[in-house]
Amino acid sequence: MSEPSAQLTPDLAELVAAARAVRERAYAPYSRFLVGAALRADDGRVFVGCNVENASYGATICAERSAILAMVAAGQRSITSIAVFTDADTLAMPCGLCRQVISEFQRDARLVVANPRQQRVLGFAEIFPEPFVLDR
Ligand code: THU
Repeated sequence: MSEPSAQLTPDLAELVAAARAVRERAYAPYSRFLVGAALRADDGRVFVGCNVENASYGATICAERSAILAMVAAGQRSITSIAVFTDADTLAMPCGLCRQVISEFQRDARLVVANPRQQRVLGFAEIFPEPFVLDR
């Protein structure tokens, strides 16, 4: 369910704060579009990531995938909730590439998209109901 500007539960509020903080470390000299992401893994730990751009633009890593890499490197493989934070007036949704990568590690996590002025809570399956699955 989509809940525009709903009051966040404490666990989601913590994720939004973490995403907001790590956004300050984004490396985005080309787009100047800073993104922070934070996710909670099954074991309760929070992992964060920011976008890291590159002079070869296609080598850019989004904030969401950056957080997922940190989670997997720490030995976790299941996401329960994820927050994405930007300063954009149009709340930034995870891009298509990140949706597919997120879908690898959960079925229907809570997703919060936020900026300093508003937030929106969704179910991930709402925005990516039919991921590609490799089933041979
Ligand atoms: N970006 C993200 O970090 N996450 C997304 O889901 C979409 C876009 C970044 C990539 C690039 O550094 C900047 O935003 C502009 O596209």
